[in-house]
Amino acid sequence: MTSFNWVFVLVVMLVMWAPVSRGDGEALGASFIFGDSLVDAGNNNYLSTLSKANIPPNGIDFKASGGNPTGRYTNGRTIGDIVGEELGQPNYAPPFLSPNATGSAILNGVNYGSGGGGIMNQTGRIFVNRIGMDIQIDYFNITRKQLDRLLGPSKAIEYLRKKSIFSVTIGANDFLNNYLLPLLSVGERISESPDAFIDHLITNLRAQLTRLYNLDARKFVIGNVGPIGCIPYQRTINRVNQDECVKLPNQLAVQYNGRLRDLLTELNENLPGATFALANVFDLVMELITNYAKYGFRSSSSACCGNGGQFAGVIPCGPTSSMCDDRSKYVFWDPYHPSEAANLIIAKQLIDGDSKYISPVNLRQLRDL
Ligand SMILES: *[C@@H]1O[C@H](CO)[C@@H](O)[C@H](O)[C@H]1NC(C)=O
Ligand SMILES: *[C@@H]1O[C@H](CO)[C@@H](O)[C@H](O)[C@H]1NC(C)=O
Ligand SMILES: *[C@@H]1O[C@H](CO)[C@@H](O)[C@H](O)[C@H]1NC(C)=O
Repeated sequence: MTSFNWVFVLVVMLVMWAPVSRGDGEALGASFIFGDSLVDAGNNNYLSTLSKANIPPNGIDFKASGGNPTGRYTNGRTIGDIVGEELGQPNYAPPFLSPNATGSAILNGVNYGSGGGGIMNQTGRIFVNRIGMDIQIDYFNITRKQLDRLLGPSKAIEYLRKKSIFSVTIGANDFLNNYLLPLLSVGERISESPDAFIDHLITNLRAQLTRLYNLDARKFVIGNVGPIGCIPYQRTINRVNQDECVKLPNQLAVQYNGRLRDLLTELNENLPGATFALANVFDLVMELITNYAKYGFRSSSSACCGNGGQFAGVIPCGPTSSMCDDRSKYVFWDPYHPSEAANLIIAKQLIDGDSKYISPVNLRQLRDL
C-alpha cells in the first residue's frame, strides 16, 4: 500500500472512532436493549396498542427530537439512552420496528423494548398488543443474521461477544399488568400462589437469557424489578398516605428480586465466558424515593404529568394532562415511569457505582472486559 493509502486509512479510522471514544478506555460498539416501557424507544409506535407514548408532552425534554414525542415513556432520555451515551455510543440504538433499524445503523445496536411487555407471553394482554420477551429475542435472532451479512460471521461473533452490551429490563409488567390485576380479570392470581408464579417467571427468564447466550450475547446487565408499590399509579388506586407505598407489589418485587439474584449467580457459573451484572433498580429507586430532597427533588410520590387522585396517578400522561412546573424536581414523570432527572441519577450509579447498586461489575467495567 502506498503512503497515501495509509494516511487515508488512518483518517477513516479516526473519523470512525474519534466521536466514539468520549470517555477513557474502550468505546462501546453496540447496545442491544430488551425490556418494557422503561426502555422502549418507539417500538410501540408501530403496533396497534393501547400502550403508546408517542403523544405530547412525552419527550418534551428529549433534545435529539427537539422535544417531540418519540415513543419513549418519559420526558427525556431513558436509562438505556443515557448508558449508551456515557459508554461512548455515537447514536441511540434504533427501535427494531422502525424503518431506521436497517443497514449499518444496527452496528449501534437495536432496541427491542416494548411498553406493556413482560417475561410471560400473556403479560400486558390488557393493552391488546405489546412485544413480550420471547418475541423480542426472535427479533434479535433476525438482527443476528443481518450482522452476519454486514460483518461476516467471524467478525459478527467478535462484535457481539466483545463490543456489545445486552441489557434486559423486564418483570414489572408481569406483576402490574398480569399477576396483580383484579381477580376475575385476566391476571394469574386466580390459579397461582406468589411462589409458583415467581418460579414460573424465573424458569422462563433463564430460558430467555440462555437463548441470548446461544446467539453470542456475553456481556449482560439485568435490571431487577423496582419498587412498583411506590409508583403514583399504585399509590393512587390504593389510596395510601403521602409517604406510604403499597405493600403487596413491593413484597412481590423483593421476592422476585431475590430469585433473580440467585439466577444470575447460577448463570455466571454455568455459561462460560458470560458476565451477568445485576442492576439493583429496586434499591436505587427506593433511595431516590426515600431521600428525594437530598437529590434535589421536591416530590417522589406524585406524577409530574398525569391526572386523577391525590398523586395524579390514574390517567396516563397525554395532551390534556396537567403537568408540573419544574420537571427536574419530580422523581416520577407519569403514573408509572421515572423522569429523565431520576433516570440520570440511576444511570450514573449503574455505570460507575459500587456493588450496592450494580454487581459483580459496573457497566464501565463490563464494557471494558
Ligand atoms: C430515522 O432517521 C431519520 C433521519 O435520520 C430521523 O429524522 C428520524 O427521527 C429517525 N426515526 C427514528 C424512529 O429513529
Ligand atoms: C410464548 O409463546 C411461544 C410460542 O407459542 C412459546 O414458544 C414460548 O415458550 C412462550 N413463552 C412463555 C414465557 O410463555
Ligand atoms: C434463530 O433462528 C434460527 C432459524 O433461522 C433457528 O434455527 C434458531 O433456533 C433460532 N435461535 C434462537 C436462539 O432462537
